[in-house]
Amino acid sequence: MKKLTILSGAGISAESGIQTFRDSNGLWENHSVTEVASPQGWRNNRELVLEFYNQRRRQLHEVEPNDAHKLLAELEKYYEVQIITQNIDDLHEKAGSSKVLHLHGELFKSCSCNNKNLIYEQKEDIKIGDKAADGAQLRPFIVWFGEDVPLMKEAARHAKEADIFLVIGTSLQVYPAAGLLQDIKDTCLLIVINPDDSMGYGKRAVVMKETATTGMKILFDKLVNMA
Ligand code: OAD
Repeated sequence: MKKLTILSGAGISAESGIQTFRDSNGLWENHSVTEVASPQGWRNNRELVLEFYNQRRRQLHEVEPNDAHKLLAELEKYYEVQIITQNIDDLHEKAGSSKVLHLHGELFKSCSCNNKNLIYEQKEDIKIGDKAADGAQLRPFIVWFGEDVPLMKEAARHAKEADIFLVIGTSLQVYPAAGLLQDIKDTCLLIVINPDDSMGYGKRAVVMKETATTGMKILFDKLVNMA
């Protein structure tokens, strides 16, 4: 089986009703990214950060995967599919994808604020005073700006091994994730789905100026034929 590696971003979940990060003047649900997604934000105001992710987590109970997530899951019949997502939602898994690497963490997990290896399943709100086994406050299991991206090495391996690399719904503004495009082989077919084609992907990319669901519906049969 050929290997199909996917790099997904907020745009793939937009049609499920989850807001993207950079389509609203750099504000994420009316907060600056530094306020809610950085160690500095956490030091300044833990309540605000916890409440922000509590709201995102509550919303996640309400939303469903869309056709783009579902078609990617369906492709496992034809390819060795590896998803690398920058998203913290679980919509790829809910759609049935079996190999999903969450580069930026997961909303349905928490960890000790002193030890990111002490990880817990977290379906409900995190409150001030909720503690990990080491006695430290629980925090969302999210990679914030300025923090290490521990799964990057594994992601780079999946990019290198890809016969087809599909980039879907990401602005490629955030590194090191965006750098994965540099890791693909010369023979790898690079496909991009994004309604905004103003970013420079280089000459070799096949760019589909479509939303995630429309783009995946067009691409699905072509990918099946190439398998
Ligand atoms: P962005 O918000 O930066 O980019 C979303 C992309 O999705 C844009 O390029 C849009 O054009 C595209 N888009 C919008 N609607 C779409 C649709 N219906 N179908 C397909 N594409 C659509 O989100 P990311 O690139 O995911 O990190 O952002 C990367 C990281 O920055 C996130 O993981 C997050 C953020 O700050 C952390 O929280 C650590």
